[in-house]
Amino acid sequence: MRTQVAIIGAGPAGLLLGQLLHRRGIDNIILERQTADYVLGRIRAGVIEQGTIDLLDEAGVGTRMHDEGLVHEGVLICIDGVRHRIPLKELTGKTLMVYGQTEITKDLMDGRAAAAAPTVYSAHDVAVHDISGNAPRVTYRADGKSHEIVCDYIAGCDGFHGISRKSVPAGAITTYERVYPLGWLGILSDTPPVTDESMYVRHPRGFALCSMRSPTRSRYYVQCSLAEDIDAWPDERFWEEFKPRLDEESRERLIIGPSIEKSIAPLRSFVAEPMRFGRLFLAGDAAHIVPPTGAKGLNLAASDVWYLSRAFIEHYAEHSDAALDHYSARALARVWKAERFSWWITTLLHAISENPFDLKIQLAELDHLFQSKAAAMAFAENYVGLPY
Ligand code: APR
Ligand code: PHB
Repeated sequence: MRTQVAIIGAGPAGLLLGQLLHRRGIDNIILERQTADYVLGRIRAGVIEQGTIDLLDEAGVGTRMHDEGLVHEGVLICIDGVRHRIPLKELTGKTLMVYGQTEITKDLMDGRAAAAAPTVYSAHDVAVHDISGNAPRVTYRADGKSHEIVCDYIAGCDGFHGISRKSVPAGAITTYERVYPLGWLGILSDTPPVTDESMYVRHPRGFALCSMRSPTRSRYYVQCSLAEDIDAWPDERFWEEFKPRLDEESRERLIIGPSIEKSIAPLRSFVAEPMRFGRLFLAGDAAHIVPPTGAKGLNLAASDVWYLSRAFIEHYAEHSDAALDHYSARALARVWKAERFSWWITTLLHAISENPFDLKIQLAELDHLFQSKAAAMAFAENYVGLPY
């Protein structure tokens, strides 16, 4: 088969890129290892920046998001039982939307199906070839047969465990990593959210997060050790650990119920540089991972796609490669700022260090955040999303 851009991975990065290119008449094929149902079954975060909202609208898949998404004008931080609010809209003029990544993925899949743009699910043994030449190829197996796609470019949107980054010669890539000695144990429950805005909780028992998916569906997290066994966490234990970390008002308001999903996510910061190798371009988790504390994972995938889609559009529409040549540097500049913010808010809100001096510094930094307009502004600017 022949196409202009072969996209590996039907996560938010791959699907969004495919939709934006398709709408500009640029041929593309998406290859996804899993089935569509499997991709849709993954529970991920759901806080989206204005830039991501605008891109989903540009891709023509924003209607349900605007109908069902929850607009948040602020965010709460609860320290040892005391709530503090960062007025995001007041400080930046910008808001956030709470709308599950699962819903975004569904909207993108529906958009692609409606556009009848080619997507191969259950594509196995995907491999990339000749990325340093002028006619890169992607091979894969589907329905028991081998297939080959000849293309101009390959977009590696296959996540952290994908083959795209792994297919880059070791000497051509540099990776940076910080692994945190903890995880997040998250549950989804059809109970009314305990807070109207997301609330991050720092408590001597450990971190917790109050989030939601709708006025009737809550998403809660508690800090846990990496070696945690999910089977050792029946719902009762989760609520016993979660409730005491909240402020009094929330403890009184909290309605508990059975979990409909429960999972543990490790906390990691990771960046691979550069994000381009000849005709192969990496986007999203294939190139970088952030701990979930800053709610930047999905939004960084979207900003990569913003830069990459414009670069491909400039190449095919104006026959200029300037944006393609600057893609890696431009995307990484925003990636590192989001990595810094995500690392900073993670170390600020989690009991990582045992050193009492570090804990005092954390409290002093939080005190400053709640008393200094400049500090609150810096937090808000990063949390609502830095410009592209
Ligand atoms: N061949 C084909 N598809 C693959 C392969 C492969 N070898 N390896 C992985 N994939 C697919 C995965 O099955 C997945 O559907 O690539 C897709 C990658 O999607 P994501 O992991 O969701 O990554 P991305 O699209 O970059 O989205 C980043 O997802 O994990 C969250 O927090 C993260 O919100 C961020 C977002
Ligand atoms: C979520 O809603 O799942 C969520 C919200 C904020 C985060 C991470 C996850 O920082």
